[in-house]
Amino acid sequence: MKLIRGRPMAGRTVLITGGSAGIGKATALGLATMGAHVAVTGRDRDRANAAAAEIRAAGGGRVDVFVADLSSQAEVRRLADQVLHALTRIDVLVNNVGGYWNTRHVTADGLEHTFALNHLAPFLLTTLLLDQLKHSAPARVVTVSSNAHAMGRIDFDDLQGERSYSGAHAYNQSKLANVLFTYELARRMPAASITANALHPGVVSTSFGADDPAVVQRLLVPFLRPFMKTPNRGAATSIHVASAPDLAQVTGRFFAHSRPRKSSERSYDRAVATRLWQVSADLVAADSPVV
Ligand SMILES: NC(=O)c1ccc[n+]([C@@H]2O[C@H](COP(=O)([O-])OP(=O)(O)OC[C@H]3O[C@@H](n4cnc5c(N)ncnc54)[C@H](OP(=O)(O)O)[C@@H]3O)[C@@H](O)[C@H]2O)c1
Repeated sequence: MKLIRGRPMAGRTVLITGGSAGIGKATALGLATMGAHVAVTGRDRDRANAAAAEIRAAGGGRVDVFVADLSSQAEVRRLADQVLHALTRIDVLVNNVGGYWNTRHVTADGLEHTFALNHLAPFLLTTLLLDQLKHSAPARVVTVSSNAHAMGRIDFDDLQGERSYSGAHAYNQSKLANVLFTYELARRMPAASITANALHPGVVSTSFGADDPAVVQRLLVPFLRPFMKTPNRGAATSIHVASAPDLAQVTGRFFAHSRPRKSSERSYDRAVATRLWQVSADLVAADSPVV
């Protein structure tokens, strides 16, 4: 694809989940400014349309909006259908949506909310869009994890936190799942077709965790906000991994501050990654063998 100076993402289509606010919206803004045709998702049409208007004003190009609650697998499937119908190519998928819940919530599918939204939704969406990504090769799957993955452990005996739930454990586990999923996808896909990388955006001042925050978060975050990254700065690593030409063949890596970093020891455990992949495929009832 021909690169246009100053608009290096011209001709590329990028789908960003959670592009209506926070890091996702800033990622969409940055990539639109680089010339990408951007598509964003959100749960609320008005909010997503308002974000799209802002992104359009900044980038001047085409911005599409899709509405879906990704905690529901039926909605993830409907979103994928609509995306496949509307977008003839997907050069980059940014799996950005994620959140923290201090108390245990259950989704429409009867699954624990953090695991369902932070891990199963990107797993299922990526799976459903894989052929379109391959068709647009070389394509990139960028998954927004967190340094919190390093405190995570995949508890296969209580994946849904039914026996014991802690918001921190559920979040850390889901962010480790993001990295394990990324590395397993990278092993399954030739880099020339699709690359898969995960990242830590930094500590960013957004609405993260606002629905059901931990007490410490409620008390401390107002004081810490001035020291946190702005969403624009928080989006820098997502934008870099989604667009940098020198990363075209780089796959199966974890990034922070726009640089490759070693992730936690547990994240490199292939047996855990394979098992998590199979369990996830079962939980989303993936009817086709996933790559
Ligand atoms: N903020 C941080 O310091 C930080 C640090 C490390 C990692 N991260 C990661 O960065 C990612 C983005 O976080 P953020 O801070 O930008 O969060 P945020 O401000 O809460 O934004 C979340 C985005 O996700 C969408 N969203 C939330 N729940 C959804 C659902 N059920 N279905 C569909 N969309 C949903 C929201 O859209 P609507 O509300 O409009 O539907 C919004 O666009 C997450 O994966 C998070 O784990 C953040």
